[in-house]
Amino acid sequence: MAGRETVIETRKLTKIYRDFWGREKKVALRALNLEVYRGEIFGLLGPNGSGKTTTIKLLLGLLFPTDGDALVFNMPSGEVRKNERIGYLPEESYLYRFLNAEETLDFYGRLFKLDPEVRRERSERLIETVGLKNDKKRILKEYSKGMRQRIGLAQALINDPELVILDEPTSGLDPLGTRWMKDLIIKLRNEGKTIIMCSHRLEDVQDICDRVAILSDGELRKLDSVKNLLEDVQRLELRATGVQLNDALRGDLETVLAKHGGKLEFIGHPTTTLEALFLRIIEESKAHPGRRYMPDAKPDAGDANIKK
Ligand SMILES: Nc1ncnc2c1ncn2[C@@H]1O[C@H](COP(=O)(O)OP(=O)(O)OP(=O)(O)O)[C@@H](O)[C@H]1O
Ligand SMILES: [Mg+2]
Repeated sequence: MAGRETVIETRKLTKIYRDFWGREKKVALRALNLEVYRGEIFGLLGPNGSGKTTTIKLLLGLLFPTDGDALVFNMPSGEVRKNERIGYLPEESYLYRFLNAEETLDFYGRLFKLDPEVRRERSERLIETVGLKNDKKRILKEYSKGMRQRIGLAQALINDPELVILDEPTSGLDPLGTRWMKDLIIKLRNEGKTIIMCSHRLEDVQDICDRVAILSDGELRKLDSVKNLLEDVQRLELRATGVQLNDALRGDLETVLAKHGGKLEFIGHPTTTLEALFLRIIEESKAHPGRRYMPDAKPDAGDANIKK
């Protein structure tokens, strides 16, 4: 990654939570070394309690490290000035429950000392972006979990940040909302922003992150690009259209592979993911609102079970 600008750097970053008497209690993070570059989506992956939120809070200066350093934009994480360039979506919503979406964004816009004109324009645009246009006058207390996540994201973007920090961005979102959130994160990256997100939803991280750090028990276990982590260099995959699977084709392929010292392991039709299938069904149901699936019709009849 030579030549790329470093946005986040941690050196031997360590956090030990202590109990009331100052005795050592829990090593939440041990000597973490990370670098996050401008314009990438960086994923922090790990099971519950592995230190993801602790890392994020250390980067934001919400917690003080026990040892080591965290630098953001080359400034120590305790430096408040850097926060003007950061957007943060916390794990749990802390927004005011009696404000509506517009008032919430206006409030945060004021905290960042945005001009009234910029505040109004940005808040309107963000409400549109996160899909809350029809609910912008309702107080947040009435919002569903997914809607709170959306307004949380809008709040995180009100200062047009260079660095966006997202703690479990897809938590509480249905598959449509999850896809929308992932597309939005990619769009932010394509606009040149840097994103660091943590998640334990593996498919989210696989779909959108450029590089991933895997934490377990407060320690870094692995760090690489998603492509490198997942590529199985021992195997070769081949896809084809316009041919039918039959013994002659199989035989020919086996001969070719054997000639090159290889062996046919599997040949068959690819399956789709449940996410892709779900999104297609929802799309189709919007296009044909009257259609229903009849579960008591013939088994294995596929599309024949769809009542027109
Ligand atoms: N304020 C605190 N006091 C004491 N221990 C804490 C505190 N906050 C977190 N911990 C402990 O530090 C460890 C790491 O917690 P952290 O919240 O960073 O995990 P996480 O990876 O974000 O987990 P999750 O996926 O559940 O959000 C856990 O063992 C947790 O119990
Ligand atoms: Mg967490």
